[in-house]
Amino acid sequence: MPRRSVAAALLVLAALGCAAGWLALQPAYSFVWRALRDADEDLDWGQAPPWPLFNLVNYLATWLPRLQARLLPPHLHVGQLGVADSLAGGHLPLAELARRSGVKSEELGRLLRAASSHGVFKEVGPGVWGNNRGSSVLRRSHPSSCNLMVQVWGDESYSAYEKLADSLQPGSPPAFELRHGAPFFYWLSQAGNEQRLAIFHGALQDAAKTMNAATLQDYPWQRHANQTVSDVGGGHGGFLAALLAAHPGIRGMLVDLPEVVAGAEGHWRRRYPELLGRVQMVQGDFFRTVPPADVFFLRYIIHDWSDAQAARILRTLRAAISAGREQHATLLIQDAVLPSSGPPSPLYAALDLQMLAISGGKERSQREWEQLLAAAGFRLRRVHRLRTLTAVLEAQAA
Ligand SMILES: C[S@@+](CC[C@H](N)C(=O)[O-])C[C@H]1O[C@@H](n2cnc3c(N)ncnc32)[C@H](O)[C@@H]1O
Repeated sequence: MPRRSVAAALLVLAALGCAAGWLALQPAYSFVWRALRDADEDLDWGQAPPWPLFNLVNYLATWLPRLQARLLPPHLHVGQLGVADSLAGGHLPLAELARRSGVKSEELGRLLRAASSHGVFKEVGPGVWGNNRGSSVLRRSHPSSCNLMVQVWGDESYSAYEKLADSLQPGSPPAFELRHGAPFFYWLSQAGNEQRLAIFHGALQDAAKTMNAATLQDYPWQRHANQTVSDVGGGHGGFLAALLAAHPGIRGMLVDLPEVVAGAEGHWRRRYPELLGRVQMVQGDFFRTVPPADVFFLRYIIHDWSDAQAARILRTLRAAISAGREQHATLLIQDAVLPSSGPPSPLYAALDLQMLAISGGKERSQREWEQLLAAAGFRLRRVHRLRTLTAVLEAQAA
């Protein structure tokens, strides 16, 4: 057969394959879409959806960076103004929306027009606005609300990117530090930034609502019954509370910076008073020292830091494991594991740059994880894949 005919036949086969694949995906795709559309306050986040659904959502997650691009920048500010919350009860005329947000009407209309050109908010009649799928997740009360996360991305992260190119100079601190004059986590703890600190930890709590179920179900926590799990850098402790509630034999320890632990104590008194007797809150610095524990759990911590800083944190943990306890203590790191070759998902490529800009951190491949752990005196034992595009890396003192 002449080469051109073979090429044409292959092309037709490829087109048919794509069409068949697309058709096969349609029912599952519309199922996920309906589930997301119908999500509301009473959605049960205690149960992670089955693996096939998660795999599909993960596939769709490659579209998230496009969504992120849609959410920059007019929508970020609309998020801050609480417009989506004002529209929760139904459509409103622009003048009323502006009155509720306390801003200028004509200018707000232009912001909404720009946002709606990206599919976020809908002008349902001349000068009358309503929420749509894209804007509903900007509501504070939405079960998968990204209102606070959008504010973090639109404020601290967005401003850091101004200095990204400068930060690539050898010896330069991370972009955020160049822009704001202090490392990100210390800046958040400074007097005057209390509101930004509260927004950051609120955003993490919102994100945790959707992540906790998979972290609880896809790692065998029952093997740590009757042990003490230290959530190092655990923020306000939303995950630790979920873990203690699900495993009554486990005791918890929450280690974080002093201002964060102070916030966590108030949060637990209000939200989880029944669990307070099983948790110890520790104000600390994981670059210096942490108390001993049976299990050290670090979620979205190590990716915040460069290799040298990450190794320092891990050495602090290694030092907390006393001689003779090496086989008993477990280190669990929840983070992304990038593919060993080829491009990562666009979501993790974007997060990798986010870490670079904010604190000089990075996402890592399994090989990089192994090297980092070995440099700090640990050995990777197993990688537990989770339904959230991340993994729990299980390690032990070498
Ligand atoms: C990205 S957040 C992750 C929070 C939490 N693990 C989660 O999954 O939601 C990073 C956490 O590390 C904490 N942190 C930053 N520097 C720290 C330090 N030197 N010592 C202890 N905690 C620190 C921050 O306060 C913050 O709570």
